[in-house]
Amino acid sequence: MNAMSQDATTSPLSINDLQAMKQRGEKISCLTAYDASFSALINKAGIDVILVGDSLGMVIQGHTSTLPVTIHDMVYHARCVNQANQRAFIIADLPFMSYSTPIIAAENAAKLIQQGGAQMIKLEGARIETVRFLVELGIPVCGHLGLLPQLINQLGSYQVQGKTPEDAQRILTEALQLQEAGATLLVLECVPAVLAKEISIELNIPVIGIGAGVHCDGQVLVLYDMLNISITKRPRFSKNFMDSAVSIEEAIIAYHQAVKQSLFPSAEHSF
Ligand code: KIV
Repeated sequence: MNAMSQDATTSPLSINDLQAMKQRGEKISCLTAYDASFSALINKAGIDVILVGDSLGMVIQGHTSTLPVTIHDMVYHARCVNQANQRAFIIADLPFMSYSTPIIAAENAAKLIQQGGAQMIKLEGARIETVRFLVELGIPVCGHLGLLPQLINQLGSYQVQGKTPEDAQRILTEALQLQEAGATLLVLECVPAVLAKEISIELNIPVIGIGAGVHCDGQVLVLYDMLNISITKRPRFSKNFMDSAVSIEEAIIAYHQAVKQSLFPSAEHSF
């Protein structure tokens, strides 16, 4: 949070606000951002959560995966986003190999919070003991299940996860374990809408979907995909909000409203 003056409409959101949104059935809107200018626009549009995602490795740095992203990169971009942030809740990703042990995870999470200004860190997979350790240290954690882009070299391709009953059950079990370990938010990526719905109902914590259907407690998209400026092909679950907008600001507002009104994602953007 920077030193700009706050009023009621710009007072910063906390995890309690996001939890309350789930409780009253208000959808949580989230977009990725990596710099101050987009952070300011996203704040102006009223988006609830900014994810400083390691997707920056692809959309900012031009890599073919998120794997080359370092903790130094993440801290730099989180700090840029935080510089112009007023109201949005900021989550920053722990990049590949930056949480290989609980201690290493804690050291890197501290950098994202202390130097980057993030309010919460996100890590991929069912790293239950790492999550428990971070939470005990006072570090808020967002889990990330379903498609795990940091595992691309094991997965072979970016595919929908949780399609078999066994895999769906595994993801549900892991989601419950993450919640039990103290995670207070969960991102679900590329899973069937019916599974995401079940997980969103089962969990007390908010579930933010990407390619996970309309029944999640909130939605996130990669900013450059929804603005149609990514150098890679837009995933099926994303949508070009510039299609019917005359400005970037209008496209972001349209996304925010579509999420709040449960108009996005529709069936064509779900699995
Ligand atoms: O890095 C990122 O942008 C993400 C989203 C795909 C959820 O983790």
